[in-house]
Amino acid sequence: REERRKKLYEACDLAANFFHNCLLKTSFGKVGLEYLKKRGLTDETIEKFKLGFAPDGWDKLYKAFRERGIEESILIELNLIRKNEKGQAYDFFRNRVMFPIMDGKGRVVGFGGRVMDDSTPKYLNSPECQIFEKGKILFAFDKAYKSIREHKQAILVEGYMDVISAHNKGVTNVVASLGTAYTKDHGHILMRQADEIILAYDMDGAGRQAAARAIELLQNTDFKVRVLAMPDGKDPDDYVRNHGGQAFRELVEKAVKPLDYLLSESLIKHDTNEAEGKQAVMQDIFPFIANIHSQTVRDDALKALALPLWLDNSTIFRYFRNYT
Ligand code: CTP
Ligand code: MN
Ligand code: MN
Ligand code: MN
Ligand code: MN
Repeated sequence: REERRKKLYEACDLAANFFHNCLLKTSFGKVGLEYLKKRGLTDETIEKFKLGFAPDGWDKLYKAFRERGIEESILIELNLIRKNEKGQAYDFFRNRVMFPIMDGKGRVVGFGGRVMDDSTPKYLNSPECQIFEKGKILFAFDKAYKSIREHKQAILVEGYMDVISAHNKGVTNVVASLGTAYTKDHGHILMRQADEIILAYDMDGAGRQAAARAIELLQNTDFKVRVLAMPDGKDPDDYVRNHGGQAFRELVEKAVKPLDYLLSESLIKHDTNEAEGKQAVMQDIFPFIANIHSQTVRDDALKALALPLWLDNSTIFRYFRNYT
């Protein structure tokens, strides 16, 4: 069993090298390299993240790996190859730029592969396997933990390119929870290094939902939490590319407390000149406030609703008592 795990790690590492080599050393990898350069990545960043390219062909990786004597069953378990109805093996990742996923120890455990145009699916990802549990991996944690420890702060983003762009511009305490939302296990990983978590998710529907869920999971933990709202651009990658690393850091400094974030999100949606609007905002915020363990913090949170809702404290407290 241990032997098997070792083989899985070895094959993953070999695959990362294979993709990396295709990107940098082959003529057919040039499109991949151009794509990554176009997205603003330096050679140094491409090296640091060991980015790669999966060639356009049915079985280039399969053939290369068979020549090296790698067992087929290992490649299948890693989902690097699949078999069609006729039993022919084909590469899972084809014609995509490749993002190797490393665990906390820097071992390659899986991959994300992105198309270079607008076709779908935009990303293919390795499924979970014996050595790859998504809920327990933070993308780039192996590269970010020193910086996270120095800053006592971790910036949590959604995607591969959000992380890589930030590191590319010198903001190195950035990690991503890939595909899965933030989990308690992620918290345990970060707990040892950081006092504060900055949530910097996309400003789209999925990102907003993910932020709301993360806020909930992080409530009543020892982390200080703040939420970053991108003033323009859809995600941190866009922002960093357009405004640079320093501007992104300044944005991080201006990140707001969860309550202020939830309140501003709710106030955009509802008209507080109307009684129904006030009610709706309270309905949005009360679940969060009801979850606060400390009575004084809870009372302060309720008082914070008074001004934006044009209600006095006693009215808010009355509504809250009816709610709980
Ligand atoms: N994701 C995925 N499969 C998809 C879409 C998204 O696995 N079809 C995951 C990827 O990890 C991706 C993250 O969710 O990085 C965030 O999704 P999205 O915002 O759509 O992608 P970006 O990271 O912004 O990708 P890009 O900038 O390359 O377009
Ligand atoms: Mn290299
Ligand atoms: Mn998104
Ligand atoms: Mn995005
Ligand atoms: Mn993006």
